[in-house]
Amino acid sequence: MAWISEDVIREIRYRNSIEDVVSSYVTLKRAGSNLLGLCPFHSEKTASFTVFPNTESFHCFGCGAGGDVISFVRRIENLDYPSAVEFLAKRAGITIVQDDRDKERMQRRKRVLDMNVEAARFFRSCLYDPKLGAAGMRYLSEKRKLDPALIRHFGLGFAPNDFGLLTRHLSKLGYKDYEMSDAFLAGISKKNGKSYDYFRNRVIFPILDISGDVVAFGGRVMDDSLPKYLNTSDTPAFKKSRNLFAMNFARKHCEEQLILCEGYMDVIALHGAGFQNAVATLGTAITPEHARLMKRYTKSVIISYDSDEAGQRAADKAFKLLSEVGLETRVLKLDGAKDPDEYIKSFGKDRFALLLKDTKSEFDFRFDNILKKYDTRLVDEKLKAIEEIEGVIAQVPSAAGREVYIGVVAEKMGISAEMIRRDVDKRTRRAQKATERRETERLIAASQGIGDRVNTDFVKNPQAASCEEKILGILLLHPEYLYEMKKKDKAPSAEDFFTEFGKKIYTLMFEIDREYFDISALGSALSVEEIDRLQKLQMSRTKLANNKIELLYELLETLKHAKEKSELSLEEIIRRKRDQKKMP
Ligand code: UTP
Ligand code: MN
Repeated sequence: MAWISEDVIREIRYRNSIEDVVSSYVTLKRAGSNLLGLCPFHSEKTASFTVFPNTESFHCFGCGAGGDVISFVRRIENLDYPSAVEFLAKRAGITIVQDDRDKERMQRRKRVLDMNVEAARFFRSCLYDPKLGAAGMRYLSEKRKLDPALIRHFGLGFAPNDFGLLTRHLSKLGYKDYEMSDAFLAGISKKNGKSYDYFRNRVIFPILDISGDVVAFGGRVMDDSLPKYLNTSDTPAFKKSRNLFAMNFARKHCEEQLILCEGYMDVIALHGAGFQNAVATLGTAITPEHARLMKRYTKSVIISYDSDEAGQRAADKAFKLLSEVGLETRVLKLDGAKDPDEYIKSFGKDRFALLLKDTKSEFDFRFDNILKKYDTRLVDEKLKAIEEIEGVIAQVPSAAGREVYIGVVAEKMGISAEMIRRDVDKRTRRAQKATERRETERLIAASQGIGDRVNTDFVKNPQAASCEEKILGILLLHPEYLYEMKKKDKAPSAEDFFTEFGKKIYTLMFEIDREYFDISALGSALSVEEIDRLQKLQMSRTKLANNKIELLYELLETLKHAKEKSELSLEEIIRRKRDQKKMP
């Protein structure tokens, strides 16, 4: 099952104690036999993140994240299972000997990466070819005013207007059509099944990941035609939601601060002007994964998006995601230019350096946006503006913070602070009640599996599903039961389970031919969220006195009956939910 042999994984886990590994990310304090710290996966003020050295596992009682040392690394370093194992192997100085499946996967990734290097070289040589690349070079140096050194630094290139140049080149080097399409360098023609160049008549921006591998490309047209940019989609070697343009350069210059832009061209202009801590997302809006990636390298982020409405809306979202991972976040006041690239070109790098010193806080950003929307000389518009601002103040978590902003707004709007305070207090109380209500609803929903993203079938028959989860919990706590049942030919089959989740987990457990194993043995086939869930199921059984094999047989019997009852209709689910809510 596992790609890397289980013995090796056991060795890797053994040599990377959870306490050790977690301590390099989280400050842990001893609490009895366990360790306690602030959860790195959600923002919290009181520690609910617990490390259990005895079982080599962790669990956050706040956000529910949990698992072993491998799933900790997967989450905090943003890695998939094999890469997390590799990461820990390196940390402990272990060399991994891979088995066939792993080899195949790594080879596919390596083929894509190798091909990308060839493609980057090819695009670059085209750009410098006086015949093939004249248009591209003219565009970059004349129209975009890029320095030759900067063009080289970023390894920019050019894809000529031809359907076969790159694909012919790559096939001469021994790459197959399907590999080129795997790498998103070629499309496959529907007519004749042949490959053709994907990037044509575009200047090319190679995208490197943190380790310096060429993982993707962006290609820009040289006129106003659409789409403006073509980008590599996700491949075996690339996920756009996890990578940032120029992070390979910026990582060495961003301990204090990162500048987050929208566009490739902004980043290039900034690096050219000496701001080597600039990065951009890759043709996609910012994701939580991006935020976590930044958090690994820096303390604070300055959002430097385009000054148009779309850019400001995007800034709104970025503020939210970045502060959620605990990054100090401010926004650039970009006046007189549509984006940082244009600003530098019009006003120079010294003026831009001044902008970096005079950024806006999240509150000021929101306050100003509201003021822009209304004409506060008109009474009714002024009232609307005040109301909206009160809404923003009410969201500030600390009472002291709210008080400060109340003072600022009172002065700016020329009304009494007392008045604003009263309104804001009303709102905070209301918001508090709403949070409590949502929390109750969430609990009710969770108890019925509504909105359950891990065990999505839960809601269809909560009785069967929760019975099944109890069974899984007991089996995880006592894998020897399964071993025993298998020997006696009494083990249930995956089909006896009701949910897809239950079937999947049980199948994985069934395939393990050992008396004892723990959740980690299933890790490679599961998402971190699925591991969280298993950890929780196992923990909730640990707290109970009866986990005997007899109970397991009883639960299997109960499951059979519960399954026989037909699946609930949606109306029934909603009715039950309503009834439950009425209960005290
Ligand atoms: P912009 O349109 O602001 O592009 O889109 P830009 O980088 O400033 O380029 P110039 O200055 O007009 O040449 C911002 C980013 O959004 C993505 C690209 O990553 C771009 O850098 N994008 C934009 C696409 O992926 N596809 C598109 O068609 C347009
Ligand atoms: Mn732009």
